[in-house]
Amino acid sequence: MATASSIPSQELLDQLPKHLHWEAYNIYQWEGFWYPAAVIRGMLAFRSNYKARCDDVILASSLKTGTTWLKALCACIMDYHDDQLSSKNPHLVVKTLEYEFAGETLNPDDLSGMPSPRLFHTHLPYSALPESIKNSECKIVYITRNPSDTMVSGWHYFNKILRRNNQDPYPFEKEYNNFCAGVHSYGPFFDHVLRYWSESLKTPNKILFLKYEELKRDPKGQVKRLASFLGQPLAGEDEVDKVIWGSSFERLKNLEVNKNGELPFGNVPNSAFFRLGKVGDWENYFTAEMKQGLDEITRMKLEGSGLDFES
Ligand code: A3P
Repeated sequence: MATASSIPSQELLDQLPKHLHWEAYNIYQWEGFWYPAAVIRGMLAFRSNYKARCDDVILASSLKTGTTWLKALCACIMDYHDDQLSSKNPHLVVKTLEYEFAGETLNPDDLSGMPSPRLFHTHLPYSALPESIKNSECKIVYITRNPSDTMVSGWHYFNKILRRNNQDPYPFEKEYNNFCAGVHSYGPFFDHVLRYWSESLKTPNKILFLKYEELKRDPKGQVKRLASFLGQPLAGEDEVDKVIWGSSFERLKNLEVNKNGELPFGNVPNSAFFRLGKVGDWENYFTAEMKQGLDEITRMKLEGSGLDFES
């Protein structure tokens, strides 16, 4: 097994383009995307050791686009009778594979011993996925969110986890500029989204493409769509309502388990994943110029793709 601790070497990492993320740690550009060193190591171990099964379900997302919600929704749908979310943070119920490989907390034997269907998550871009995920019949569910709210959500999140000791918040404008330039963890955002979007158009039975805003606007319709895609259609409106409530921001944020405790990877407080949960919070942070600037980038990047965002 390729272990996560040694590959690639620091010497090799030092030859890559790098950027000091939030004055805290370097992120490196690897195959077109930016990652912390541990994530590159986890990604490589994930790629060489993961053998997809045809009934695996892989959730995928860029950072701060609704990952926690998607994990909770799928856990409710696929594990309907066992409410694991009442006592576990969604990130422990559905694990992010490159983090598990980076921390060496999951090995090929654990994986092969797990009953089907296995439910996992990754933040990796499509191009970086293991070949066996791309080539098997396993399903992928991708979630995205409008870039303005994604950027604002990320700014709050990293302030919470990286500026703990009464430090001033990281300058908003700096983070905005990094986001627009695509120099952020798992960025560029638009490259991440667009590839999953185009793959979902090519193979709609393999990749379901969800938007945070659509889930907010039409939870019943989107939950039914998700459940049918997963091959677990919900029996009636009561079941749909149960899934919506079971995975809701209001419920999860107020559970004891999510108010306290930390995730093992990066010592992230569980509460950091539940801030506001609304569409349009960018209005409270962006100047008119900022909104115009990011909208213009969005328009240029999405042109001709058929994809759009609601904000
Ligand atoms: P805000 O910071 O805008 O509140 P991720 O899960 O990808 O890290 O994204 C986090 C964002 O999703 C945060 O957005 C968080 O509040 C929101 N979120 C977390 N759980 C949610 C849920 N069950 N329903 C809706 N939004 C949720």
